[in-house]
Amino acid sequence: MIAILSRTYTVLENFIVLEGLDGSGTTTQLALLEERIKALHVPFFSTFEPTKNTTGTLIREILKGEKDAHPDTVAFLFAADRNEHLYHPIDGILIHLFRGELVICDRYLFSSLAYQSVSSDYDFIYSLNRHFPLPAFLFFLDTPVDLCMQRLSDRKGREIFENREFQENVLKGYRKTLDIFKEYPLHIHQINGTLPREKIFSEIWEKIESLPIVKK
Ligand code: TYD
Repeated sequence: MIAILSRTYTVLENFIVLEGLDGSGTTTQLALLEERIKALHVPFFSTFEPTKNTTGTLIREILKGEKDAHPDTVAFLFAADRNEHLYHPIDGILIHLFRGELVICDRYLFSSLAYQSVSSDYDFIYSLNRHFPLPAFLFFLDTPVDLCMQRLSDRKGREIFENREFQENVLKGYRKTLDIFKEYPLHIHQINGTLPREKIFSEIWEKIESLPIVKK
């Protein structure tokens, strides 16, 4: 536990989060990370948000436009899904960390701060997420909206957030969030998302290969 600005934050060692706009390449990087740590026989748990649990499934229905909900309700749902994701007694992130695994996660509370703040008050979103523990590492794939939109146009099944204007606002939300969290006790790395994926991966790997859990 580290106290900064009179608040107390818990930083979870061996917890790594990838963030970025839709189409920024986080899922590709997560797959490359999995491949590398598997090859090194590092015990790990690879996961993502929204989860596949009950709340995560409801969120995906809303994102597909199959169900409707007030933006603040969506923010509550993401926070509820995250709570379950962290504290589930059998398959939660904390259980995996306590078992000595490296946990890699595609999106976390930084997504809520960037995405939900487009339609809801930033401080409200912050208050919903402020008690969650922080990852030791946050990698932000800084990929221009144009490139993300181009990649998304090749995918089937658009979600409600996947439009240019919204993504431009999400990027502003990310910039604000990264600025706030630079004062916090976690390692934040912003990576140029236009680089070839192998180059992005080597930048990520360079930061985590010296972790004791990886070097063992
Ligand atoms: P994503 O992982 O990009 O899903 P897919 O596999 O369908 O590409 O996440 C789905 C969407 O959820 C994405 O647009 C970001 C959004 N999101 C939020 O709005 N808030 C959050 O807290 C999280 C975790 C995701």
